[in-house]
Amino acid sequence: MDDVPSFCQELRGVLKPHCASVTLCGSPLRALRLLRQQPFDLLITTLVMKELGGFELIRRLRGQGSRIPIVMITGYGNEKTAIEAVRLGVSDYLEKPVVPEELLARLAKLMAPSPAPALAESLSPREGMISEDPAMKAIFDTVEAVARSDSRVLILGETGTGKQLIAQALHAQGPRRREPFVEVNCAAIPENLLESELFGHDPGAFTGATGRRIGRFEEAGSGTLFLDEIGEMSYPLQSKLLRVLQGGKFNRVGGTETLQSQARVIAATNRDLQKEVETGRFRSDLFYRLHVISLTLPPLRKRAVDVPLLAAFFLHRYRQGRSAPEGFTPEAIACLQAYSWPGNVRELEHLVERFAVLHDRAWIELADLPERIRSESQRADSLADRSLQGTYHQAKSAFERRYLEETLRLARGNMAAAARLAALDRSRYFRLVRTYGLDPRRFAP
Ligand SMILES: Nc1ncnc2c1ncn2[C@@H]1O[C@H](COP(=O)(O)OP(=O)(O)OP(=O)(O)O)[C@@H](O)[C@H]1O
Ligand SMILES: [Mg+2]
Repeated sequence: MDDVPSFCQELRGVLKPHCASVTLCGSPLRALRLLRQQPFDLLITTLVMKELGGFELIRRLRGQGSRIPIVMITGYGNEKTAIEAVRLGVSDYLEKPVVPEELLARLAKLMAPSPAPALAESLSPREGMISEDPAMKAIFDTVEAVARSDSRVLILGETGTGKQLIAQALHAQGPRRREPFVEVNCAAIPENLLESELFGHDPGAFTGATGRRIGRFEEAGSGTLFLDEIGEMSYPLQSKLLRVLQGGKFNRVGGTETLQSQARVIAATNRDLQKEVETGRFRSDLFYRLHVISLTLPPLRKRAVDVPLLAAFFLHRYRQGRSAPEGFTPEAIACLQAYSWPGNVRELEHLVERFAVLHDRAWIELADLPERIRSESQRADSLADRSLQGTYHQAKSAFERRYLEETLRLARGNMAAAARLAALDRSRYFRLVRTYGLDPRRFAP
């Protein structure tokens, strides 16, 4: 991308023998259009152009949601432009005159597949949540829609499935985002203190209540009050909560003044609330008040597609610049996918964090996994062919991954050769490999 045709031609001459396809573009505005319409692997742009400066081009490009890697070439480089380039997420920065060998070496380094940048590019985490599972994606869509409303939301799901993250996303994506997000863990606070925690108290409300205490409903103002582990709340307190949910009115403990709550209430539990209602442990009227919209997060064992993505994501998060492992071998990943994850995403996160800190080799292999995971997943493996399980989308993903691994193995890690084996054009094949976070170096002899 440059508005000097001779420079474009010169670059094409350098790149052509090494790239599947090179598109020249003399107008930044046309480049923006092209990048919206077609997938590209990389953008090379100069800084100074008449129609639109290189930095402005990048700002607009990022503004339209593109995360394409960008290499900037400039004849007018100084420290300030270099800093601005880094700030805008430019991957590499070169000064004119361009030395072909140097440009190629930089590009090779940039395009070498590594799970981390590929991940950032293909997943676009929503409020730090990633998932490629169709049920989770549907939940993300609901969150986006529901966040705009004032409706109460009940979030259900086993421990560690991401209920808290969803509650935060509902707040962060909605119009109350600048108001407080106040969280109360109903299981962590002793029953006799929970009431004054929620509603506050006035002096002398009970022995030891000397001053006035502002409760969590007041603190939340017109923000969001997140009642976590609502299933643990005692029956008497449930009645008091019901009163606020019915009319927004409440009193501080020991207080006479009636206060009005404007907060949006979101609740979560890992209990089966419907069953708690049936057995009389949870008030049915409260249940229906909370249950205006409910989101049930699927356990990790029902979304095996997410296991490799989350593993790569956490490895990247906990690596923190240290020389942590590159990733899991295909065998290790397959084993993790067959495991039942009773602690769900949190359990996987802790496992990966341990590896990021303690593992001293480049790859985490099957033998490195804890015995409990290996033995359980072996049993699961002998019971069923996992590629035939789950939804169509999950089965297709499982197949795609296995197929890519097999072609890479046959081609001994040579991506071009593997793409030929698969009869796919190279950029399509490269993209697939990156989407699945596969590292071709693993398959080199
Ligand atoms: N889809 C996801 N993407 C990234 N991280 C996730 C995802 N889901 C969960 N996590 C991470 O897993 C951990 C557990 O998630 P969270 O605390 O939201 O679970 P929870 O359902 O509230 O669990 P509990 O019932 O035990 O309170 C957190 O560290 C969270 O960041
Ligand atoms: Mg939680």
